[in-house]
Amino acid sequence: MLTHSVDDAWAAIATLGLAEKLSTGGPVMTILDRFRLEDRVAIVTGASSGLGVTFATALAEAGADVVLAARREDRLADTRNRVEETGRRAIAVRTDVTRPEECQALVDAAMRAFDRVDVLVNNAGVGTAVPAVRETPDQFRSVVDVNLNGCYWMAQACGRIMQPGSSIINISSVLGLTTAGLPQAAYAATKAGLIGLTRDLAQQWTGRRGIRVNALAPGCFESGMTDQFDENYVRHTVIPRTLIGRLGHHEELCTALIFLASDAGSYITGITLPVDGGILAT
Ligand SMILES: NC(=O)c1ccc[n+]([C@@H]2O[C@H](COP(=O)([O-])OP(=O)(O)OC[C@H]3O[C@@H](n4cnc5c(N)ncnc54)[C@H](OP(=O)(O)O)[C@@H]3O)[C@@H](O)[C@H]2O)c1
Repeated sequence: MLTHSVDDAWAAIATLGLAEKLSTGGPVMTILDRFRLEDRVAIVTGASSGLGVTFATALAEAGADVVLAARREDRLADTRNRVEETGRRAIAVRTDVTRPEECQALVDAAMRAFDRVDVLVNNAGVGTAVPAVRETPDQFRSVVDVNLNGCYWMAQACGRIMQPGSSIINISSVLGLTTAGLPQAAYAATKAGLIGLTRDLAQQWTGRRGIRVNALAPGCFESGMTDQFDENYVRHTVIPRTLIGRLGHHEELCTALIFLASDAGSYITGITLPVDGGILAT
């Protein structure tokens, strides 16, 4: 005869240590555990300077092994050392993202070394400012080739081998969504294009392949790219447009990156997340 109440049943389950597993559908995870990237492998393009170096280090601090890509091998070696200082593994692969075959070779090298790719950070980019009446076709095309086409070649190569649960993060810019006083048709067009690319790859791959695809739209962060800005431009144009009243710190972008890369962002796909100190609100 069945005499056990529901409470009795739960007491028995608790004794077996199963209650938390049944109620959450798996091993117990804290909120902070959801940001962890242990046993994951991340590719970061443009890892030889600026934000890419900090992204690679942050992913390693969160637990990932990292595959570093860019053209300057000596600088990649420095980033590799920084990643290895965190206790994670890294490989560096010289890659020009404008060449689809080099993007494929990068992903092949990652698979040979680690047998998986869980995260792609499409960060390689060039920034230019040329008045539209003077910009040559080659100048315009060269920006599109790196900032937009390069991201697509990388996403294609990764999309073919990524397993469900993977995450692609395209580094767009607030300049894909607004203007900021400089003549940046090529840069702005590619960064806006990247937002469309993000949306479309998300609708192609999230349901069918379990790959989330999102973009970050940074405001202004110190880097090789922003070092080229005139100090007056930053002081009189950028800062007054930024509600927080200063340039961003790299860690303030890395936290958003880890959020999108990890299970913390498991219900987020197809979006562009601005991290801009409020530029888009002004
Ligand atoms: N800093 C900001 O405030 C800001 C704001 C919005 C968006 N972003 C975006 O953030 C990303 C990183 O920029 P950053 O500010 O860190 O600039 P950065 O210091 O100039 O870094 C750019 C990186 O892209 C790589 N790269 C350029 N062309 C490449 C190519 N053909 N193949 C492979 N790698 C290439 C460079 O490496 P090699 O020269 O060694 O190849 C370098 O590592 C860019 O996409 C940029 O548009 C930056």
